[in-house]
Amino acid sequence: FQNALSPPTIYLPPLSLQGCDPCSQTQRSKLQHRRARINQQINKEMRMRAGAENLFRATTNNKVKETVALELSFVNSNLQLLKEELEELNSNMEVYQTESEAINVPMIPLGLKETKEVDLTVPLKDVICEHYGEDSSLFEKEIKEFMELRQAMRTPSRNEAGLELLVEYYNQLYYLDQRFFPPHRTLGVHFHWYDSLTGVPSCQRALAFEKGSVLFNVGALYTQIGARQDRSATAGIDRAIDAFQRAAGAFNYLKENFSNAPSLDMSGPSLCMLVRLMIAQVQECVFERVTLTTQDTHFISQLQVAKEAARVRGRVCVCTMSQTLVKDYVPFSWASMVQVKAEHFRALSHYNAAVALCDHTQSIKEEDDEESAKALFQFHVSTPAGPPLSQVLRDPEDRRKLGKAHLRCAVIRHEEAMRVHGLCKILRKMDILQEVLSFMYKRSLDKYSEMDREDDFDETAEAPEIHSQTQHKPDITPPNFSTVPVTDIFQRLGPLSVFCARARWGPVRVVSLQRGDGSLGLTLRGDSPVLVAGVVPGGCAQEAGLREGDYIVAVDGEDFKWAKHGEVVHTLKSCSNRGVQLSIITLHTHDTQVGARVVVFVLGCVCVCVCYISMCVRALQRNHFICICS
Ligand SMILES: *[C@@H]1O[C@H](CO)[C@@H](O)[C@H](O)[C@H]1NC(C)=O
Ligand SMILES: *[C@@H]1O[C@H](CO)[C@@H](O)[C@H](O)[C@H]1NC(C)=O
Repeated sequence: FQNALSPPTIYLPPLSLQGCDPCSQTQRSKLQHRRARINQQINKEMRMRAGAENLFRATTNNKVKETVALELSFVNSNLQLLKEELEELNSNMEVYQTESEAINVPMIPLGLKETKEVDLTVPLKDVICEHYGEDSSLFEKEIKEFMELRQAMRTPSRNEAGLELLVEYYNQLYYLDQRFFPPHRTLGVHFHWYDSLTGVPSCQRALAFEKGSVLFNVGALYTQIGARQDRSATAGIDRAIDAFQRAAGAFNYLKENFSNAPSLDMSGPSLCMLVRLMIAQVQECVFERVTLTTQDTHFISQLQVAKEAARVRGRVCVCTMSQTLVKDYVPFSWASMVQVKAEHFRALSHYNAAVALCDHTQSIKEEDDEESAKALFQFHVSTPAGPPLSQVLRDPEDRRKLGKAHLRCAVIRHEEAMRVHGLCKILRKMDILQEVLSFMYKRSLDKYSEMDREDDFDETAEAPEIHSQTQHKPDITPPNFSTVPVTDIFQRLGPLSVFCARARWGPVRVVSLQRGDGSLGLTLRGDSPVLVAGVVPGGCAQEAGLREGDYIVAVDGEDFKWAKHGEVVHTLKSCSNRGVQLSIITLHTHDTQVGARVVVFVLGCVCVCVCYISMCVRALQRNHFICICS
């Protein structure tokens, strides 16, 4: 399960940050060495995976299958981890550049779903040959282009270009679907995809599975982009917010529009959990943004920071609730991380409340007294014990006491967060998280001892929870597929309106038109392809064998499938003296559909009649004439 949390852990410690120095040579060779080692490991894991997969397929024993699936999941997550490590190494210079001083709680990125190679060459050629009646060897370039696109999108780079690649492939799949996948039939190829979280393989013949998986990877890539942003400045935070919102949008789209996926990561409850997780991460970023931009130590703005933290905690808690639905499936490290974050942000909200209350040792300023009072009255979920809030506001000593109560809560929550963190082996390895937790804990402790007085004899009261409120409600940004416009790779097959997998047409007929005196005796309609809208009875078109509803696909052997109306008219006019050869096709999807409907209708009528007659017979036997009448 390490893959899920890998990016924060595998940032390598900078070997040297001194820039170009004599060491750089050895640095490079060190890098080379690491690269070679990782590649070796990858090869080893690949071999293990191939073996496990064969076993998985071959065995019929469920117990063995389960064990192998588990084994596979480990191998796959290892593999992904290694690949990411390799990628990280390859781009490590960049990583060093964005090393920032600020420490942030790491975000959870998702691993991409991996897929196996599929060779569509033969099935596509078959369809081109059988369905479209074209010479399939003429389409080798197109098929190769498509296969190369698929190959490329398996390993997208973790940036905008990678996203574009995925969306481009997704958009091409629309055309592929229209061209080669008739309804209720498949090409007989299997699409294999591995579960993002467990690595368990699943396969389906439906193209929808391929499409859904690509869309999942769009979402996953956004999570990785979001997680790797440098959130020490507002620009980086905004980019992270945008990325997580788009990730949520992709998962949401998947949830609503692709059901019955064979793998668990694309099931409704998992996607629901992922959407919530992304929303929680957006809210975290919003909190970071608010703390970063709230530089004034104004009473009201500090209360707002506390409310913002409470909001994050709320969002994170919703995640833990939805996680119980997919409990056995979600990696333990995620569950722990979410729990740690819930406690962490609860602590932060109490800490900020305490800072707001205690740092204003003087009386709250006269002019904004009323607003401060209002802010404080609406701050807590329930009224705190002790003196009334109006008195707390006026009296610094009372404020200190309430603040101390909040601090006590903060310290307890920090301790709880660190306890949960300590229970998870993978989280323990995450230095950044460890660092953040202990830093914040120490901050609260310091504040507490600063607050503490020797004459505080009475027990510190329990501080009530804090209302949550946010300045920015997270958005679920749906994917916008039109940002990457594509042209159909197989466009030479002809316009999609006619030349698609759904439609059926007869063989190409070639008719010779010879203009008699004046007109050709036909009217044309529409563009690409042009339709014969009517033929004049007894005209030369009718005699040549043209019928209403025929499509013109070529004129004198030249391809006219994409021709515009005017173009065809012009060509026919200009060469009518010497006669012209038209290649035409007739669609007959319509006829067969109508035929099928008539058959269904007649069968339906027969059924109804039989039922009615049998009812009548039974009624007659019982002398129920009224029943017959009715
Ligand atoms: C599902 O797909 C339709 C169109 O294909 C789209 O309008 C709708 O927004 C999608 N649902 C979500 C939640 O994005
Ligand atoms: C989607 O992207 C296109 C092209 O960039 C843009 O024109 C369009 O407004 C976008 N649609 C939405 C809903 O954002």
